[in-house]
Amino acid sequence: MNYSPNQPLHILRLDSSPRRADSVSRHLTDHLMARLLRDYPEANVTTRDLAVGLPLPTEPFVEGSVYAMQNPTPAMQAATQLSDELAAELLAADVVVLGLPVYNWTVPSTFKAYVDQIVRLGVTFGYVDGVRHGLLRARSVYIVLTSGGTGMGSDVDFATPYARFLWQTLGIQHVEFIDAAGLLFSAEEITRKAEAQIEQLVLPVFA
Ligand SMILES: Cc1cc2nc3c(=O)[nH]c(=O)nc-3n(C[C@H](O)[C@H](O)[C@H](O)COP(=O)(O)O)c2cc1C
Repeated sequence: MNYSPNQPLHILRLDSSPRRADSVSRHLTDHLMARLLRDYPEANVTTRDLAVGLPLPTEPFVEGSVYAMQNPTPAMQAATQLSDELAAELLAADVVVLGLPVYNWTVPSTFKAYVDQIVRLGVTFGYVDGVRHGLLRARSVYIVLTSGGTGMGSDVDFATPYARFLWQTLGIQHVEFIDAAGLLFSAEEITRKAEAQIEQLVLPVFA
């Protein structure tokens, strides 16, 4: 079911930086949330701090979520319980806000651990006549991308194409990045530019 203006908007906020008080990506996701809540003061917000450390896939998790999905044992069900909760939370969102620092030219393992929990066949994506399609109802994700020196969209930025492909695969067609890359060189200026980009966003997109 798509978002209807008669229902309160449901925003899922995800942060993946292990830094807290001094985190630039969290500062900018704060800014983005304030921007969204200005337009949608009635919105429900769910916040997930991915840097608390989600579990790595274990054997019962893999068996229960991939190989024995039709008849999981109680141990497999227990191992996939958090994944079920995270997927349900994501499926309930109309808009996703994500803080994403670049680590070693790609996404940080805090976020990748989340991806391994929420990408589930028959839950967040499926196949119709052999064609893969996403099952999320959210139509927009706003990603604050921070980095030290890796330029967003450069040849060695594997985080941006990966994040775009991921969300589009799960059904979110509008994937918009807030560019805060290159903080090593000019943190203040880049943060100011990213704040200005957030102010200028047309939020949210439900197309
Ligand atoms: C383990 C690690 C790997 C990193 N790898 C990169 C990298 O490949 N490219 C880059 O530009 N910055 C890299 N950085 C810098 C982070 O991208 C930067 O600290 C982060 O985006 C700042 O956002 P934050 O303040 O929200 O944590 C790395 C930082 C750490 C801790």
